[in-house]
Amino acid sequence: MKTVTPPSADRLIDEIMGYRKAKILMVAAYLDVFTPLESARTASALARRLALDSRAVEILLDALTAIGYLRKRGRQYVNAPISRRYLVRGRPGYMGDNLKYQEMIWDAWGDLRHSIGKGGAVRPLEYWLLRHKGFTQEYIRGMDNIARGPAAEISAIVAPAPGSRLLDVGAGPGTYSLAFLRANPAMRATLLDLPSTLKVTRRMLAQFPALAARTRLKAGNYRDAAFGREDFDLVLLSHITHDENPEVNRRLIEESFRALKPGGRVIIHDFMLDPNRVQPVFGALFSVHMLAYTEGGRTYTAAEYGNWLRRAGFSRLTERRIAVKSRNSSRIIIGVKDQ
Ligand SMILES: C[S@@+](CC[C@H](N)C(=O)[O-])C[C@H]1O[C@@H](n2cnc3c(N)ncnc32)[C@H](O)[C@@H]1O
Repeated sequence: MKTVTPPSADRLIDEIMGYRKAKILMVAAYLDVFTPLESARTASALARRLALDSRAVEILLDALTAIGYLRKRGRQYVNAPISRRYLVRGRPGYMGDNLKYQEMIWDAWGDLRHSIGKGGAVRPLEYWLLRHKGFTQEYIRGMDNIARGPAAEISAIVAPAPGSRLLDVGAGPGTYSLAFLRANPAMRATLLDLPSTLKVTRRMLAQFPALAARTRLKAGNYRDAAFGREDFDLVLLSHITHDENPEVNRRLIEESFRALKPGGRVIIHDFMLDPNRVQPVFGALFSVHMLAYTEGGRTYTAAEYGNWLRRAGFSRLTERRIAVKSRNSSRIIIGVKDQ
């Protein structure tokens, strides 16, 4: 007879350890403990350097060692390979800004219980963007940390005609526009975003003066701004629709339709769920992230985007998976405004 092993409570203990591990990592990234730990140091030497408490730093570094982000020899700690690659400031794969932004928005997760009663964020994105000092910079840099791979992939798939004009709505750091401009020397891009974000965008674009010369920064609120009338060959909505409710998203797509020349294309890029809404796991959890810090955002299904696009007048819809091998793979849906 087949015996069924009852589920182990260890599973629950593992899940609870999940938030502790996440918080430890985000705080360590926020404090930038990994950059100085390219050289082996004791906890007290690191605490002195970062002006922190030595006993507390020792506890934090032991925990980071326990979960594989540091190595400990005697009383000295040094980065493990994963930290060296992704958490040392200045490295090409640096993801510390993203963890730092997630640490800054941790309190939104603290509100989750109340968000579920209320049906949306207690302190929505606008609160964090407009009122929380320093948040916009980390948020926008954090977007850039995770956008470079997908941006290069999307610009190659879309392959615009020479001289195309792109409108990048909610452009943030401009990583997607820059990837298009890099791959298409005669292209120009308009980056639409909130004025507070564009201050950060401008500083980030300054690192690439030749590409920046082909951009125009347009300050505005995408919820009520006119995007233009038959001015663009491409409109990109990347990772903005998950912040918004269906009504705003329908408007964004209708406004994109008006802004495109006949034959132009809209590209929606986002995390998307399968029709059952429970796969992929990243998308289902990301939806809760949106519940915690937006008023009406969530992860949508590809079918929902398809309906909004067709209703706005787009046809010949195509869908592609982006960064398929990564845990946070996303999708694009491209719609054409027929001639
Ligand atoms: C998640 S980020 C996405 C950035 C970029 N598109 C990307 O994919 O990396 C969302 C962006 O939308 C911008 N945003 C949020 N609300 C906005 C609004 N009402 N009007 C214009 N931009 C807005 C934010 O400033 C931020 O740059």
